[in-house]
Amino acid sequence: MTDHPAPARTVLVTGANRGLGLKYCRQLVAEGWLVLAATRDPERAHDLQALAREYPQRVRLVQLDVVKESDVQALAEELRGVPLDMLINNAGTFGPEGWPGGMRYQSLAHMDYEIWRNILEVNLLAPFRLTVALAPSLRLASRAVVVMLSSDLGSIGNNRLGQSHAYRTSKAGLNMLTRSIANEWPDLITIAMAPGWCKTELGGEGAQIDPADSVRAQVRTFAALNPSHNGQFIDRFGATVAW
Ligand SMILES: NC(=O)c1ccc[n+]([C@@H]2O[C@H](COP(=O)([O-])OP(=O)(O)OC[C@H]3O[C@@H](n4cnc5c(N)ncnc54)[C@H](OP(=O)(O)O)[C@@H]3O)[C@@H](O)[C@H]2O)c1
Repeated sequence: MTDHPAPARTVLVTGANRGLGLKYCRQLVAEGWLVLAATRDPERAHDLQALAREYPQRVRLVQLDVVKESDVQALAEELRGVPLDMLINNAGTFGPEGWPGGMRYQSLAHMDYEIWRNILEVNLLAPFRLTVALAPSLRLASRAVVVMLSSDLGSIGNNRLGQSHAYRTSKAGLNMLTRSIANEWPDLITIAMAPGWCKTELGGEGAQIDPADSVRAQVRTFAALNPSHNGQFIDRFGATVAW
C-alpha cells in the first residue's frame, strides 16, 4: 500500500511582507502549509520573494491592499472554488508611526481624525470585508479558522491607562466583530488573538517579545483550536483575555 501524504492545508496571511505577517508565513510553510502571502506590493516584498524561492511549490505572493474593495473582490474571484483552511487577518496599523511616536496623533490633547479614519479602515473595516468576501472559500474547508489580529490594547476590561484612542477603538471594534461573526457562522472557528507586545515596526523597539517567538506560540495555539474556541479572545498561549 502506498502512503499518500495529506494534502497541504491552505492559509492566507494579510500584511505578509514584514513583522508578524512574515513570521506566520515562514513558520506555517515550514510546517507544511500552502501559504498565500498577501501584500500591498509584491514587487517590493523581498523577504517574501526569498521565501517563495525556498518553497516554490508552497508560497504564493498575492497582491492585496486590504482597504481596496477591488483588490478584495479580485482575490475572492481568484480563490473561488479553492478551499481555504485558515485566514489570518494580520494587516494592521498604528498610523504613520509605530509605538511610541504614534501615540502623539491619537491622544485627548491631539487627535488626527484623518489618521483615525485610516486606522479604522485598515484594522476594522478591512478584516470584515475580507472575511465576508472569502467566506465561500472558508466554507469549502473543514472547520476553517479565521484569526483576527487584535491586541491587549483592544481589551476594555484590562484598560487601566487610556491613550492610543484610535488604535484601541479599532481593536475593540474588531473584538466585537469576532464575537458577532462567530455567532453567525458557527461552522467556522473565528478568534481574536492578542499576540503580545512584539518588536516590529508597529510595536517599536521598546517591545519585549521577539515576533518569531510570539508566532511560534500562536501557531501551537492554532493547532489546538476546536469549536469551543469559536468567538473567544485569547492570547498567544491560548489563555482567555478579558473583553
Ligand atoms: N507588534 C505588536 O506589538 C502588536 C501587538 C498587538 C497586536 N498587533 C497586531 O498585529 C498585526 C501585525 O502587526 P505588526 O506588529 O507585524 O506590524 P508591522 O510590522 O507594522 O506590519 C504591519 C503590516 O500590515 C500591512 N498593512 C498595513 N496597511 C495595509 C493595507 N492597507 N493593506 C495591506 N497591508 C497593510 C503592512 O504592509 P506595508 O509594508 O505595505 O505597509 C505590514 O505588512 C497588526 O494587526 C497589529 O495591530 C501587533
